[in-house]
Amino acid sequence: MAVTQFKNPTCSKTQLYSSQLSFLSKTVPRRHHCTFAPLHRTQHARISCSVAPNQVQVPAAQFQDPKSKPDCYGVFCLTYDLKAEEETKSWKKLINIAVSGAAGMISNHLLFKLASGEVFGPNQPIALKLLGSERSIQALEGVAMELEDSLFPLLREVIISIDPYEVFQDAEWALLIGAKPRGPGIERAALLDINGQIFAEQGQALNAVASRNVKVIVVGNPCNTNALICLKNAPNIPAKNFHALTRLDENRAKCQLALKAGVFYDKVSNMTIWGNHSTTQVPDFLNARIDGLPVKEVIKDHKWLEEEFTEKVQKRGGVLIQKWGRSSAASTSVSIVDAIRSLITPTPKGDWFSTGVYTSGNPYGIAEDIVFSMPCRSKGDGDYELVKDVIFDDYLRQKLAKTEAELLAEKKCVAHLTGEGIAVCELPGDTMLPGEM
Ligand code: LMR
Repeated sequence: MAVTQFKNPTCSKTQLYSSQLSFLSKTVPRRHHCTFAPLHRTQHARISCSVAPNQVQVPAAQFQDPKSKPDCYGVFCLTYDLKAEEETKSWKKLINIAVSGAAGMISNHLLFKLASGEVFGPNQPIALKLLGSERSIQALEGVAMELEDSLFPLLREVIISIDPYEVFQDAEWALLIGAKPRGPGIERAALLDINGQIFAEQGQALNAVASRNVKVIVVGNPCNTNALICLKNAPNIPAKNFHALTRLDENRAKCQLALKAGVFYDKVSNMTIWGNHSTTQVPDFLNARIDGLPVKEVIKDHKWLEEEFTEKVQKRGGVLIQKWGRSSAASTSVSIVDAIRSLITPTPKGDWFSTGVYTSGNPYGIAEDIVFSMPCRSKGDGDYELVKDVIFDDYLRQKLAKTEAELLAEKKCVAHLTGEGIAVCELPGDTMLPGEM
């Protein structure tokens, strides 16, 4: 029978909740955090943490061949039914997924999708590393408890922390959701700076401790510029690996086109969102297709496409905030799932998806060195390539210029955070951040 040993009986306040999760609490210095060494069948479990010995039960499970479970991490090792696992022999290697803003509404939808297997598949065990703030640490414990109570077989480890260096350790995916929303009396420039600092720090943390091939999806707004700041602060991670989420805009655009054409939205394909996730974004009806046909052949009302459709997609986030009194959360989490799936499954032939990526070497003539949403395809290996066979007309070019100008202005405004000198903040007055009305 495996026996639990306590290596450091002085480390306090870290809670061992029960059978499945290990928690890293803000109150515990990093060197004292609970870590659980893999259990070996014939060895004793070693827990390097100070939970009072009488709080931990001797695990009931009998452990067999240590080689059969090389990826056994955390307290899960004490409880998981190794025998059943051996019977399936189909588990993949555990992946580490870091999520910031983990106590927020978007995460509250997303984490349960991740843990259920609906994102990475039914054979893919995951570890969730949850980043919160001092203010949200209690709520984060609540999130972790709900994850625990959900008994997800694929969820092998959960940690919570307010330290990005802990949360991003070996992360293979980093879903950066946490950011300060713009509130009354906060200038746009100030918001860019406040959020920019968060993403500069997170970029540095990713650079220091994440997997060298981590895929980063920035959701916190203004997500394009936050992604740029993040990648500039992570020079050892390929810039190509950073994304700004514009998949929600793509989904919104597909829905509006489907409604207008009177078809279900699965008939809409090749939908590009160009540019910034803001009111200057460009939903591209020139290249999109409905039932395989160019949109303009199906929807003859071109004035509607240029005006109503475009504005509806651009302002959908703001309208939702007015209705809900807060940002979209469920549909955002669905679109994060879509964005991940688009990178880990081959793109259907002839189709593409939109994501905000680094413009270096883009074939469209868009300014280099910004994060701009563009059409991409993936082989399903986590990587992507830009789609070359797209067409442009004057209308599209003019719209692209506007969203590009906004991003270039935002970039100048955060120059102090990207290592490019002194910030000069002259944001175009007729453009708006996501959520502004
Ligand atoms: C959305 O598009 O729904 C959000 O990005 C809006 C926001 O500012 O939170």
